[in-house]
Amino acid sequence: PYPVYARLRREAPVSLVDPVGMWAISRYEDALYVMKNPQLFSSRGIMAATEPPWLGRTNPVSDSLIAIDPPRHTRLRALVNRAFTPAAVARLEPFVRTVVEELASKVVSGNTLDFVETFALPLPANVIGELLGLDVSLRARFKQWADIIITAATLPPDAVELHDRMRNTLAEMDRYFHEVVESRRRQPGDDMVSELLRAQVDGQSLSESELMGFFYLLLLAGLETTVHMLSHCAIMLARKPDVQARLRAEPALIPRFIEEVLRCEPPVHSTLRVTTSEVELSGVKLPPGTPVLVLLASAQRDESFCPNGDEFSLERTNQGNMAFGHGIHFCLGAPLARLEARVALEVLLSRSSGIFLRQEQIQWNLAPTARGPVVLPMEWKP
Ligand code: HEM
Repeated sequence: PYPVYARLRREAPVSLVDPVGMWAISRYEDALYVMKNPQLFSSRGIMAATEPPWLGRTNPVSDSLIAIDPPRHTRLRALVNRAFTPAAVARLEPFVRTVVEELASKVVSGNTLDFVETFALPLPANVIGELLGLDVSLRARFKQWADIIITAATLPPDAVELHDRMRNTLAEMDRYFHEVVESRRRQPGDDMVSELLRAQVDGQSLSESELMGFFYLLLLAGLETTVHMLSHCAIMLARKPDVQARLRAEPALIPRFIEEVLRCEPPVHSTLRVTTSEVELSGVKLPPGTPVLVLLASAQRDESFCPNGDEFSLERTNQGNMAFGHGIHFCLGAPLARLEARVALEVLLSRSSGIFLRQEQIQWNLAPTARGPVVLPMEWKP
């Protein structure tokens, strides 16, 4: 359980976080209000607060969907929506299943393996690679980038060497994305990159930084989060042998299990907004320009939304948890992430008889925006 969230909800639902100067919102009702009113709570808050000075450049996602407001947001989102509708995502299922089957044969060996490295990272890396139409031979590089980027949020301000590595990785990603754009300009295909190059918004093509923003966002928003979701599912199965047994007997419960894991251990604990005018939340007045940290992880444990919210239960059927956000910025990749998790668990559970965890050897990334294991030693018995 998360006792700090519970105390905040009870005693200080809107409270100033020192020394960052943001106001943390912990109750379900307040969180929902923020997410439902983008005209009062701007998404420009996301980038303003997350550009570390050592980066020495603008954040590559500062012009992307997640960090902009309507009307531009509405138009850009419409461009990529089609690729992520439930029907479009369902068409990806055979591809996802092929990747899962291949990776699962390594996982279910009876030996202790790092689940992140053998499964949770390569699965979404392959799926996003496919979606963006990236060259198969480059996917190894793509994974290395992800390995480095995945640690970005937790780099301490004095880790000079790691900052250099991060900057070099970003420069390499920039070069690669530019190469991809140039090659699709010369030879368009039916992939998402070519589609974005053809796209017109208000009679104009997307700017170079908007195109780059899409790349980075899809890579970053779609990768680390999915890795953490898959890892949290695996940890929950290992910790709850009764749940494991039940899901093996009743695979139809797998989607419900996934929703409850997302509610209890969401990969994204919080998101940021900035107020555009004076607003009042739980009796606290916030002036315009106030950074607001919406604690999604706390909101979905709130008793008013979910009785006994700190407990994991397969019996819950309530919809609408906030793991994927809410409102106009609701996660574009949610149907895809859910598909990956469902297929992964169907295959892994049907091929294994027991799942064990090396609890003491887990290494965590505890960043508030992307929380999950970086190294996850596990054993899956055939
Ligand atoms: C937005 C979580 C997977 C692409 C969001 C937001 C959350 C979230 C909380 C809303 C942020 C906000 O309102 O400030 C997650 C989780 C995932 C996941 C927990 C996995 C379990 C993916 C995948 C993709 C993706 C697989 C794409 C391939 C996006 C995009 C947005 C977004 C493009 C921005 C949408 C917009 O601003 O309109 N995600 N995400 N996500 N996500 Fe995900």
